[in-house]
Amino acid sequence: MDEIKIFSPATVANVACGFDVLGFCLDTVGDEMVVRKTATKGISITKIEGYDLPMETKRNVAGVAALALLEKVEVDFGFEIEIYKNIKPGSGVGSSSASASGVVFAMNELLGRPFNKTQLSFFAMKGEAVASGSEHADNIAPGIFGGFTLVKSTNPLEILELPTPHDMYATIVHPQIEIKTSEARAILPKEIVLQNAITQWANVGSLVHGLHISDYDLISSALKDVVVEPFRKQLIPYFDNAKKAALEAGALGVGISGSGPSIFSLNKGEETAHKVAEAFKNVYDQTGIEFNLYVSRINPNGIKIL
Ligand code: HSE
Repeated sequence: MDEIKIFSPATVANVACGFDVLGFCLDTVGDEMVVRKTATKGISITKIEGYDLPMETKRNVAGVAALALLEKVEVDFGFEIEIYKNIKPGSGVGSSSASASGVVFAMNELLGRPFNKTQLSFFAMKGEAVASGSEHADNIAPGIFGGFTLVKSTNPLEILELPTPHDMYATIVHPQIEIKTSEARAILPKEIVLQNAITQWANVGSLVHGLHISDYDLISSALKDVVVEPFRKQLIPYFDNAKKAALEAGALGVGISGSGPSIFSLNKGEETAHKVAEAFKNVYDQTGIEFNLYVSRINPNGIKIL
C-alpha cells in the first residue's frame, strides 16, 4: 500500500473534572487526510483545504507529528500529506489533535503497523505541543483509541481505555469565536486551593467509576469542574446561560470542551441529547453569535480508514 485516506474525528478533552487527563471521541465531525509514500525522503505537506494553516512541515502540527514518527524508522522513502480540515482550529474539539493523530495513524498503516497506539499517541503529542505550547494527550488519546480515555501519565506516556455506558450521547455547541489553547492555558493559575483539588479528584475518581458501572447518577454528580471552568468560562459568552439551559433540558453534566469555546454535555439517550441541543440553540439564537450544534454518540473506534 502506497497511499491511504483516513477520517480523524473530533474529540472532547477534560470532560469537566479531568483537566489534561480525560477525553472522549465524537463521530459526526472530523478531518480527512490522504498520506502517501514518496520517493523523496522526509515529510512534505502538499495540500491543506478548509482552513488556513502553515504548509511548512516544522510549523504544522501534522508535520511535526510525522517527523517525530519518521525519526524512529529507517526508510528510504518519504511521505506527503494532504489535509482536508473540517474541524475549525481554535474550536475546542481537538482540531490540532485530529491532524497530529491522523497523520501518524496513516503513516503507521503504510509502514505495516510497527507502532502501537500509545507510541502513535506519543508522536502525535509532539505535534499537538506546537499548537498549544504544552505536551498533553487528552484529545489525542480518544482520537487514536476511541471511546473514553484517561492519560495516566505523559512521561512516560500511559493511556487507559475507559468503558462507555451504552446510552451515552454527547451534545456540542460551538459558538463561532476562536480561543487559542495556548491563551486559555495562560490564564490558569499555577497553584490551586487544596479544598478544590480534593473536590476535583473525588469527581475524577467518581466519574471513572461511574463509567465502569454505567451509573448515570454518579456520572452526573461527578461532571463538575471547580478548578479550570471558573477561570475559562469568562472567555465564552453566555456559558452560564447555556449550561443552565442544558441541565434543565436533562443533560447529565455540562462543561467547556477542551479549552473552548465549544461547550459539551453528556446525556443519557439520544432523545435527551437532541433536547439539550435545542436548549443550546434557544440560548445562542438570542445572542447574535453564530454557532454550530452537533449530537454524537461516543465513537468507540477513533480514527478510521476510508
Ligand atoms: N486539556 C487541554 C486544555 C485541552 O484544556 O488546555 C485543549 O488542548
